[in-house]
Amino acid sequence: MILVKTEKTIIPFLQKWRKNQLSIGFVPTMGALHNGHLSLISSSISDCDICVSSLFVNPTQFNNKSDFEKYPVTLEKDIALLEAAGCHILFLPSVTEIYPPNYVSPHYPLGELEMILEGKYRPGHFQGVCQVVDRLLHITHPQCLYLGQKDYQQCMVIKKMIELRNYFTDVKINPTIRDANGLALSSRNMRLSDEEKILALHLSKTLFYIKENIEPGNVELLKQQMAQQLEDKGFKVDYVEIASAATLETVTHWNGNDKLVALVAAYINEVRLIDNMLLF
Ligand code: PAF
Repeated sequence: MILVKTEKTIIPFLQKWRKNQLSIGFVPTMGALHNGHLSLISSSISDCDICVSSLFVNPTQFNNKSDFEKYPVTLEKDIALLEAAGCHILFLPSVTEIYPPNYVSPHYPLGELEMILEGKYRPGHFQGVCQVVDRLLHITHPQCLYLGQKDYQQCMVIKKMIELRNYFTDVKINPTIRDANGLALSSRNMRLSDEEKILALHLSKTLFYIKENIEPGNVELLKQQMAQQLEDKGFKVDYVEIASAATLETVTHWNGNDKLVALVAAYINEVRLIDNMLLF
């Protein structure tokens, strides 16, 4: 695996591959890699000739300073995992490489999508995500970009940014990878104690319960009951929501036909976790 740290050094590799008609798949990460990331690398390798990954803990997408400072960093292990997974090139930029002194951060008109759910509880987060992914796509210009469904709203935001910026990149979304007990894999799980990991299972249990028990009609009570049950177990709940899988518009009455997604965000002590599940 080739490791590059600057835009100037990655571009000649990409140009050479493109000139040789090789397709490029791109997997952006913030490191602290787990099997969810590795499934994205594996999809990129099976679809495209060259797999490019990036590892950059993007400061502009953290609305909470302590979340940024405590974000797990496992660089050597990550490099070994990417190499073993068959990634061809890892881009490991510094903050000034991504945001040079002359960088002017654009504003992305994301509309309602950044006002709801994660956008509501993490103001500015999605502008930061768009900034970094825009910079990375501008450098790499991949045919395909690989993202995990675990960050459902992020996938929709990035698709919108790609449209706004006219990139010719296909977004491929891989299903959430869960551990044997149903816990969605997340880099933030590394911050949980063993006891907290057991408690965290209630998030996916909540989503499975909604999937099995949702009925046409008013779904407000179901959301409220689920949120209350999590609070009773010691979570601080930001939301338990049921929304249109296509638009993320909140659903209060379900007609029994529309395709829905259930989403949850809650804190266990200091650690904020999110999860979601398609209800069809
Ligand atoms: O999902 C993530 O890890 C990050 O939000 C991403 C897409 C790598 C941008 O920093």
